[in-house]
Amino acid sequence: MTKMFPAAPTLAPSGPGQIEIAGVEKRFALGAREMVALGGIDLSIRAGEFVCLLGPSGCGKSTLLNAIAGFAPPTAGRISVDGAPVRGPGPDRGMVFQEYALFPWMTVAKNIAFGLEIKGMRRDEIEARTRTLLDTLSLAEFRDRYPKDLSGGMRQRVAIARVLALDPPILLMDEPFGALDALTRRTLQDELLRLWQETAKTIVFVTHSIEESIYLADRIVVMTYRPGTIKAVVPIALPRPRDTARADFNDLKRELGGLVMAEQRRHTDDEIKPATFD
Ligand SMILES: Nc1ncnc2c1ncn2[C@@H]1O[C@H](COP(=O)(O)OP(=O)(O)OP(=O)(O)O)[C@@H](O)[C@H]1O
Ligand SMILES: [Mg+2]
Repeated sequence: MTKMFPAAPTLAPSGPGQIEIAGVEKRFALGAREMVALGGIDLSIRAGEFVCLLGPSGCGKSTLLNAIAGFAPPTAGRISVDGAPVRGPGPDRGMVFQEYALFPWMTVAKNIAFGLEIKGMRRDEIEARTRTLLDTLSLAEFRDRYPKDLSGGMRQRVAIARVLALDPPILLMDEPFGALDALTRRTLQDELLRLWQETAKTIVFVTHSIEESIYLADRIVVMTYRPGTIKAVVPIALPRPRDTARADFNDLKRELGGLVMAEQRRHTDDEIKPATFD
């Protein structure tokens, strides 16, 4: 497999971004009380950028991603994509969920083709696109298998392929590799970077792994816990492919670790699942 990565780091956005998030708040009713899940998020993401949202469990990462996806509108504030306010889900944004959202009764190939059938694409076009995606994600020999007969890594490949089938310019990914072993995870991270580089898609990727965020992102958005706000935005200028053993990689790991740990220490009374280094 040939791997092509941009040699130079990408810069932070200037001017209006593709995704504009302004003053976004999200409150949930918690019995008689209100819980502020997101407390005033301002973020601009430019087209083609790879942004990671990093923070401990419960800090509102999924809430923010769901708001961008249009599944759950914010209580206050505005989100727009390419200048148009987000009013619901749309074909410009594809979501890969935290848990594999595959249809268990459909084969791998059917799962990938499903969205295209709904769209009414011609049968031969569906077959051609499905075959390309099966090849791209090393799934060709599994095309007639059912999800229950696949490993976690394979299932997550199918989940990515079925979102890519619709070719959205923006990919929203909610801890897609969280349940995978370290080796499978690295393989899929590399495949995702290759796809990103080849297709120039915008990726907003949620993780609670510090290493994963440094390995993948152009910029890391570190979130605070209750309310979820932006604690820091850290641009990652390391050349790709990134070497996790390099001194500058580990300097970043320490820097981000410090930010995340400080946040977790503010909530030692709360049983929060911490962010992890690996
Ligand atoms: N539908 C809901 N109703 C009430 N509270 C909710 C709802 N969805 C999320 N929350 C609360 O909002 C906060 C943020 O949740 P969210 O799922 O966005 O966190 P997260 O950062 O994605 O966590 P994790 O890493 O565990 O996935 C949590 O305290 C959660 O309990
Ligand atoms: Mg989540």
